[in-house]
Amino acid sequence: MQTLFTGTKPTADRLHLGNYFGALKPFVDLFPKYESFMMVADYHALTTMRSGEALCHNTLEVVRDYVAAGVDPGKVVLFKQSDVPEHTEMAWMFECLVSVPFLMLAHAYKDKVAKGEETNAGLFNYPMLMAADILLYDTDVVPVGEDQRQHVEYAREAASKFNNAYGETFKQPQERIMKDVAVVPGTDGRKMSKSYGNTIPLFGSKDEIVKAVMSIVTDSNAESPTNVYAIHALLRSREELADIYKANKGKYKALKESLIEDIEAMVAPMRQVREYISDDDVKRILKDGGERARARAVRKMNDVRTKVGIAF
Ligand code: TYM
Repeated sequence: MQTLFTGTKPTADRLHLGNYFGALKPFVDLFPKYESFMMVADYHALTTMRSGEALCHNTLEVVRDYVAAGVDPGKVVLFKQSDVPEHTEMAWMFECLVSVPFLMLAHAYKDKVAKGEETNAGLFNYPMLMAADILLYDTDVVPVGEDQRQHVEYAREAASKFNNAYGETFKQPQERIMKDVAVVPGTDGRKMSKSYGNTIPLFGSKDEIVKAVMSIVTDSNAESPTNVYAIHALLRSREELADIYKANKGKYKALKESLIEDIEAMVAPMRQVREYISDDDVKRILKDGGERARARAVRKMNDVRTKVGIAF
């Protein structure tokens, strides 16, 4: 059976529709056919977060979102990165194999430098931590949005570097990027992202969804509001949308209301499930997932430690 692996950084306390359609839903559709791992990347979040309380809170909330959205903890190893310290150990080994100019090409790092923002060494080295996440589990497939493509390429490069130095050890993982949801647009038409403030929360209250959808930027000259349509296309087929947008030509408010109704219809049942998942449930899920993930990572790490010459 092939292995599926994906992750999310808990820098916000709830997922948005970009996370959901870009990575979470593809994962939920795929996991029954694979041995599957879903990880909360809390070490990754430390590159930007400075509040321990917020990190704990976000981690619990994000796991609740995963489970409510259909990630079955009985069938998926659902865990947090920090429960498997082998990830940081493996990242160190990859860092010793790749060059500084190679890491300087990473988009996340380059974008920060271009904006004149301060970059910490954790952010700079981050692609090797993500390579460790993926490679420690002999992952075959990584379902992600387009913005993570380069990171999976970095993982392949890290695998090659290690294999060339120490002999065949790591598999070459492949990203799975769904064409129609590779870049889910936000309320302003740019990629939906917390840092742009253009998100629609997956588990927002009805009021929050109404507010976010009503704020979608529309071009007053166009017959069909492009940004509304782009988000609507995530929920309905082109044929269904053709009828709705024809019947409501130029009526932006009605089209936004139709979008709100469709988001509500999708989210309401998941929201109900979410209400019944307690903090204790989440902690139990993470403890169990952490133990299963760690057992697997330790096995791989034993082989790696022997090969690099630190285990006797
Ligand atoms: P993160 O937390 O930024 O995003 C989680 C997932 O959501 C996808 N995504 C989107 N897809 C389409 N359109 C959007 N607007 C959109 N916004 C977010 C992302 O592509 C991602 O798949 N580095 C990763 C977390 C990570 C990881 C891993 C992923 C850590 N280790 C190992 C896969 C495998 C990140 O920051 O994702």
